[in-house]
Amino acid sequence: MSLVTLLAADPAAAQRWRRTFPGEPEQAAAARRFAAALLPDCPFLDDVLLATGEMVGNALRHTKSGRSGGRFAVEIRRTGDLIAVAVTDEGGPTEPATPDADPLAESGRGLRTVSACTTGWGWFGNETGRTVTAVFASGGPCGEAVRAL
Ligand SMILES: Nc1ncnc2c1ncn2[C@@H]1O[C@H](COP(=O)(O)OP(=O)(O)OP(=O)(O)O)[C@@H](O)[C@H]1O
Ligand SMILES: [Mg+2]
Repeated sequence: MSLVTLLAADPAAAQRWRRTFPGEPEQAAAARRFAAALLPDCPFLDDVLLATGEMVGNALRHTKSGRSGGRFAVEIRRTGDLIAVAVTDEGGPTEPATPDADPLAESGRGLRTVSACTTGWGWFGNETGRTVTAVFASGGPCGEAVRAL
């Protein structure tokens, strides 16, 4: 099952919240607070906040969202035990990637961190805008499906 199929499952049961933020550095904390306020009972909230911070940091650092007047959006979807956090940016010249880590490098670990603390992650889009999505599931068939991506 693909990530898209999984996230589209049972759409009538899904809860969705979306907010647009100014592309300013302090808005990373605002995005984390947005997620924390919506998911107070989430058993893996720490992981959700860590991944959200990394994805928003990337939007600000690597895309036009971080330029003057830029914006980014955070969407949170919840269907039962499945939570997805999607960060949409305004695009840039690079693509989200997890290149082989240089042990001495001072950066390049954000998406590896996202990969390590989520059930799955992915992205779509192009240089005019990309959406990076991280999925969290507490076991069960959904978790297995995403791990198989
Ligand atoms: N939303 C994005 N749009 C375009 N390119 C991205 C995006 N997110 C990440 N990238 C690309 O993927 C690379 C790896 O991202 P990652 O978050 O792992 O490292 P980093 O942001 O360079 O450093 P760190 O997060 O460790 O401070 C980035 O250097 C960038 O080239
Ligand atoms: Mg990063």
